[in-house]
Amino acid sequence: MKEKSKELYNRKDKAKLGGGEAKIKNQHEKGKLTARERIELLVDNGSFEEIGMFVKHRATDFGLDKVNYPGDGVVTGFAKINGRPIALFSQDFTVFGGSLSETHAEKIIKIMKLALKAGIPIIGLNDSGGARIQEGVISLGGYADIFLLNTLASGVVPQISVVLGPCAGGAVYSPAITDFIFMARKTSHMFVTGPNVVKTVTHENVTFEDLGGADTHATKSGVAHFVYDNEIETLLNVRKLMGYLPLNFKDRPDNLNFDFESLQPEEKLDSIIPDNPNKPYDMKEVISLLVDDSEFLEVHQNYAENIICGFCHIGGMSVGIVANQPQILAGVLDINASVKSARFVRFCDAFNIPLLVLVDVPGFLPGTEQEWNGIIRHGAKLLYAFSEATVPKITLITRKAYGGAYDVMNSKHIRGDFNFAWPSAELAVMGPKGAVEIIFKKEIESSENPELELERKLNEYIQKFANPYIAAERGFLDDIIEPKDTKRILINSFDLLKDKVDNNPKKKHGNIPL
Ligand code: HXC
Repeated sequence: MKEKSKELYNRKDKAKLGGGEAKIKNQHEKGKLTARERIELLVDNGSFEEIGMFVKHRATDFGLDKVNYPGDGVVTGFAKINGRPIALFSQDFTVFGGSLSETHAEKIIKIMKLALKAGIPIIGLNDSGGARIQEGVISLGGYADIFLLNTLASGVVPQISVVLGPCAGGAVYSPAITDFIFMARKTSHMFVTGPNVVKTVTHENVTFEDLGGADTHATKSGVAHFVYDNEIETLLNVRKLMGYLPLNFKDRPDNLNFDFESLQPEEKLDSIIPDNPNKPYDMKEVISLLVDDSEFLEVHQNYAENIICGFCHIGGMSVGIVANQPQILAGVLDINASVKSARFVRFCDAFNIPLLVLVDVPGFLPGTEQEWNGIIRHGAKLLYAFSEATVPKITLITRKAYGGAYDVMNSKHIRGDFNFAWPSAELAVMGPKGAVEIIFKKEIESSENPELELERKLNEYIQKFANPYIAAERGFLDDIIEPKDTKRILINSFDLLKDKVDNNPKKKHGNIPL
């Protein structure tokens, strides 16, 4: 038995070395960690159980019959994060550049199927040269098998992609189907075609970093949801994200301890909204005063910054926040903001994470650029996402809620469970000046003093409409609340809604305007 144990030990030791010491050194010299070092940082100490360590490729062409590494370039298994189970795969660049062979794909598929059976999240650490070139179409088939499973698992268990090296060609579509993409600056790259192909086809000169680096995808394309300076920070933030999520669509996020008895009114909230309704303020300050310990994990922090999306705990409960940001473009809704927030709302709804919607929106962004690029169908995504969502949904209007954007931002009419407003709220078809210039055009023009008349009509309009009371009289708002009491009211409301049941009509699936 001793001999047999020794053989096992030796074989496992060899497998753990991946492509060998020299390749590991190369990996470190590029500023990258190995597949196994990454797993160690990601999961709870001692919780990782590996499967498929001895799997080898079956290819024989191009001399592959003479080169084989146990594990075949991907480490797979299950582990725990914050004490909760997850399944994972971690591509090993030291073995054939982490490229995806038939057997490499089979290992990923096996772990994904296990995750689906067990009802646990899947985390993929990607670092790969793409399809194993020597295996040709067989490896393309492996990718397609993974894409299918990504799609079938969507909405069943959370799927997280962490891109920590190259991820090119069709390979990008696996992360793209998953719920969130993390990238690390300088070492992660994603593109459908690399700089050389780009130069041949479009004659553009572009670097790897500019074409598909982390910052490009965090700011320009919106492909990356979370971006950090290095791998360690990236992996630690994956752990953080998992703290807000349930295991699967039937599960709920964990509740944290919260001492409700010692909750005090937050006086600072009373002075955040400026007296001048056209003056910006930072909605993130409002968020930081409402969430537990000011801890807010922002999604797409540097993309479409006119809307803020992210996870937090309120009274110990996991909550997804969608908030207009008056500091950027006056908080207007445009194409990118609509797409960003619609996907976030759908994720929260799929995984039983209640939504808090903070509204200060002057409307949709006007202009040919927006109209020609389809603000109508993109804006409709957000409307659709809020309308179909059945999780607890609470709206707080802090200031402006104008026009169609009032309806879209989780209004009472599209099943907001509780709709609150601060006394500073203004609910109207449009801003006072625009409205007065239209409805009192003739009176103002024919007046002896048009400027004075405009001023008079403006005051009249503001008195009548630029407040929350008409909406409250109609029941479109459930209450008008003092800012300082907001957190208490939110906690009590979310608590009441925790067993909320709401259903949509039976159907195969809806047809969201994609
Ligand atoms: C087989 C590969 C490989 C691949 C890299 N290697 N990519 N082996 N198939 N796709 C091997 C290299 O031969 C090398 O082996 C080792 O991995 C490390 O690669 P290097 O080139 O030395 O590393 P680096 O300089 O860091 O460059 C990394 C790279 C480059 C940018 C990823 O290797 C590269 O361009 N690879 C090809 C990428 C590609 O075109 N893939 C196909 C994309 S299309 P040795 O033994 O020398 O260490 C695709 C389609 C998917 O993937 C479709 C899905 C539907």
